[in-house]
Amino acid sequence: MIVLVGFMGAGKTSVGARLARRLGMPFVDVDKAIEAAEGRRIATIFSESGEAAFRTIERDTVAAALAGDDAVVALGGGAVEDDQTRQRLAAHTVIHLAVDLATVRRRVGDDRRRPMLQTHDVEALFARRVPVYSSVADHTVVTDGRAPDVIVDEIIAALPAAGEGTAHA
Ligand code: S3P
Repeated sequence: MIVLVGFMGAGKTSVGARLARRLGMPFVDVDKAIEAAEGRRIATIFSESGEAAFRTIERDTVAAALAGDDAVVALGGGAVEDDQTRQRLAAHTVIHLAVDLATVRRRVGDDRRRPMLQTHDVEALFARRVPVYSSVADHTVVTDGRAPDVIVDEIIAALPAAGEGTAHA
């Protein structure tokens, strides 16, 4: 699997879809898979069932995606905070789409579809998560001010050759 991680607003969904198309692979967006399986929007899952319930569904959905057919998989920004998910990622090629906090604010602002922006201090969340993205990633690609196709080119250039496996720092 090629797995995209990064903070909200990093472009995981748009880059992931383009990357999958370029590689001729299926694209799995975990947030969308959760919404499809639950028949509820993410914001509704948070408001009706709470964050802890969402994180359990998220962990299971990530596990199923990583166990499925080879694909490009985009994780939600908080998925890497789960221990089991981090362990599972060790077997895959993980790309961190890095983004500045200023860009995050500009891109997602106080987007009502992203409940974490309403309930958490974004700066603290960002500071806590960036080292985690780096620790699980095989490669980090800066996304600020760069066109999606340029980002995709850099990811493709960084992919291990077939049979090479992954090398985590
Ligand atoms: C979350 C990020 C969202 C989604 C949920 C929680 C987070 O995904 O999974 O709202 O904790 O950062 P995106 O990173 O695709 O916005």
